[in-house]
Amino acid sequence: MEKLDSALSIYRSIGRMPLAPLFTPIEKCERIREALPELPELYIKRDDFIGPLVWGNKVRKLEYSLFEARRQGADTILTFGGIQSNHARITAQVARRAGFDCELILSGKPPKKAAANFLINQLMGIPVHFVESREDRAPKMAELSRELEKKGKRVYPIPLGASDATGSFGFVRAMEEIIQQQQALGIQFDYLLHGCSSGGTQAGLVVGQHLFQQKHLNIIGVSADDSEDQIKGYILQAVEPMLRQLGRSGKLTEADLNVDAAHIGEGYAIPTALSNLAKKAFAENEGILLEDTYTAKAAAALIDFARQGKFRPSDKVLLWHTGGLLNLFK
Ligand SMILES: Cc1ncc(COP(=O)(O)O)c(C=O)c1O
Repeated sequence: MEKLDSALSIYRSIGRMPLAPLFTPIEKCERIREALPELPELYIKRDDFIGPLVWGNKVRKLEYSLFEARRQGADTILTFGGIQSNHARITAQVARRAGFDCELILSGKPPKKAAANFLINQLMGIPVHFVESREDRAPKMAELSRELEKKGKRVYPIPLGASDATGSFGFVRAMEEIIQQQQALGIQFDYLLHGCSSGGTQAGLVVGQHLFQQKHLNIIGVSADDSEDQIKGYILQAVEPMLRQLGRSGKLTEADLNVDAAHIGEGYAIPTALSNLAKKAFAENEGILLEDTYTAKAAAALIDFARQGKFRPSDKVLLWHTGGLLNLFK
């Protein structure tokens, strides 16, 4: 216990730059269970309420990334993603708010007509460097970083999804938040489902689970693109240095993580029959909007798990709405 206290005080000493009110509501979804009676007792964490223009879960991580950038004396933020990356656009937006310069590396062809996240990058006048493939993004960021440093800029590069050992602390804090909400609601969640890709959301949640002793909670990341092994690899890449920083010697391994890669369908951002059903059911019954890439697939996994009888009748399930709704308008 003493060791855990010391880990907690290290965690509490980590700096963060407040960017938005983050204490998002947890709401019970009852009407959707009339349409889909197979669903368990269901709650939803409304990170789609974060910030203006549906910022979503990324802001939690960026509070830690931008604090670190400022601490290191950086004046320019770089990051990368796809053309419609929520992460890249939100990073650019919070960088602008905090007074940093920002440039983005986006993979894909320059769109003929700017829309959604890409439109906002344009409105903010963010320099965008296009590369052909996902694999070209990190090398391009390293190259651009060297070029800018030569010109006297002080660059802080943020990796994909801000899912490193800095940004992922945002989801340790999110775990602390839901513990407070559990107490206020007088319940304990048995399952937490969320969309995942670069792994930082789950990295922070599992470190938080360890730090705040939430062993009973089953955290399941539903992959938007990569395989179970790949995503677990990304998660551990952040988890290991985080635990070291907190002075925790115990190791988390792949066996401690739950990643579902069975609901990707044909690929990233391509809807499946079940994700379409989930999107329609949440909108029509609850007035809650989901988008195709992350949240509708997480909800599809939830429906599928319920149909497979994974949940016990007494289970309470929390679906984490991670945002990303601008992609409804791309
Ligand atoms: C809306 C949304 N949900 C979920 C995720 C996945 O989170 P992570 O990359 O931390 O696994 C992302 C980012 O990739 C996202 O933009």
